[in-house]
Amino acid sequence: MSKTIEDLKEAFAGESMANRRYLAYAEKADKDGNPQVARLFRAAAAAEAIHATNHLRTLGEIQDLADNLKVAIAGENYEHSQMYPAFIEDAQADGHQKALNVFEWAMAVEKEHEALFQAALDTLKDSDDSYDYYICPVCGHTHPRTAPDKCPVCGVSGARFLRVH
Ligand SMILES: [Fe+2]
Ligand SMILES: [Fe+2]
Repeated sequence: MSKTIEDLKEAFAGESMANRRYLAYAEKADKDGNPQVARLFRAAAAAEAIHATNHLRTLGEIQDLADNLKVAIAGENYEHSQMYPAFIEDAQADGHQKALNVFEWAMAVEKEHEALFQAALDTLKDSDDSYDYYICPVCGHTHPRTAPDKCPVCGVSGARFLRVH
């Protein structure tokens, strides 16, 4: 791998992380009663997202729909079958209850994501079904079509789910 390819991958990872970090900081700034700093964090986060996408595109990693779904399926599968099980063992060994909790939630939801992506890939050519998704704001549980009464992963009320149109 050339140094530039390595640099693009590192820049994609760094910008992606900055985007999520700034959005979390923006939420905190709003809660702390500073909407102007919240706006600045959201503005910078939007710019970092553009940088991240530019780097990913330059890497040639934005492909056609079927290939992108295959990459997503492999990534979700790796996370729920290898990465999170290993992390859960570490959290248990360290007695880190909070980490154990968020790893278990993520593992459960990555499994759902793999199935959703797989179903989308399987029906790519013959489905024109159209519907929204509902996301649990606590654990990320991803529910097609409707919000459940109660999150099956973490138990939060379905009224709090976020709709993705
Ligand atoms: Fe996922
Ligand atoms: Fe949940």
